[in-house]
Amino acid sequence: MSIVDNEKQAVLRNKFLKENSEKIKIEGIDADETYITEIVKRSRANGVILDIGAGTAYFTIKIAKRTLNVEIVALDLSSASIRMAKDNVSNVKDVNIHLLIADGRCLPFKNEAFWLVTSRLAPHSIKEAYRVLKKNGWYIFRACGPYNCWKEAHEIFGKRALPFATAEWWKTPFSRLERLKQHGFRDVYEMFFLIQKYYTLRQIIKELTFNPIVKDFNPEKDISKLKEFEKNTERKKE
Ligand SMILES: C[S@@+](CC[C@H](N)C(=O)[O-])C[C@H]1O[C@@H](n2cnc3c(N)ncnc32)[C@H](O)[C@@H]1O
Repeated sequence: MSIVDNEKQAVLRNKFLKENSEKIKIEGIDADETYITEIVKRSRANGVILDIGAGTAYFTIKIAKRTLNVEIVALDLSSASIRMAKDNVSNVKDVNIHLLIADGRCLPFKNEAFWLVTSRLAPHSIKEAYRVLKKNGWYIFRACGPYNCWKEAHEIFGKRALPFATAEWWKTPFSRLERLKQHGFRDVYEMFFLIQKYYTLRQIIKELTFNPIVKDFNPEKDISKLKEFEKNTERKKE
């Protein structure tokens, strides 16, 4: 199963990224900057980049602005996100970004179509990423680490937390490198940022509204669970 942003989430994501992205630097480590730098470093003129699950294209635009003569194809399964992405892209000069609605688990492209395939926190198939990648091309993705509060969401909300959130995909298991090799990737490596983030009640509500992994989440009705949640992350701080 995958979470596809609906209209409300797409609006929230757009707003959240525009307002907060520059501030999300935890203890001096900027995982997103590292992610973008790796892509920029490995992009090449006229080499087409595919961004899977691009959302509202916030990071796609950042990448496009820092690469020269690069075309980016960005897709998302959410029509609301793509609509917003189109709006965002239209406000930026000199970028070559094509947007489309498509499923990251079943890519509508021929084999070896892209020089670089990327994805930031979006569900997709490794096998498909490999298939559409040129030989000697790069596949660079950013996944969630254990700092994410979804693990806690599972502890507190039990079955109401979508199983998707604990899916292997979002974690950063070392075994994933082996999985990549099994799919054909040759030189695989991982940058691992071990970051523990502590959440205040306000941040937890924001996170669960923004990333709706808890079924029928309602901050008012769920207040006792949220307080438990807050206590849990506080305890981990000690
Ligand atoms: C956490 S957001 C990340 C968005 C964007 N990459 C960013 O970093 O701002 C996950 C995105 O994946 C999209 N998504 C979910 N399932 C998908 C699928 N099967 N194929 C393509 N996109 C998908 C959602 O609609 C959402 O926009």
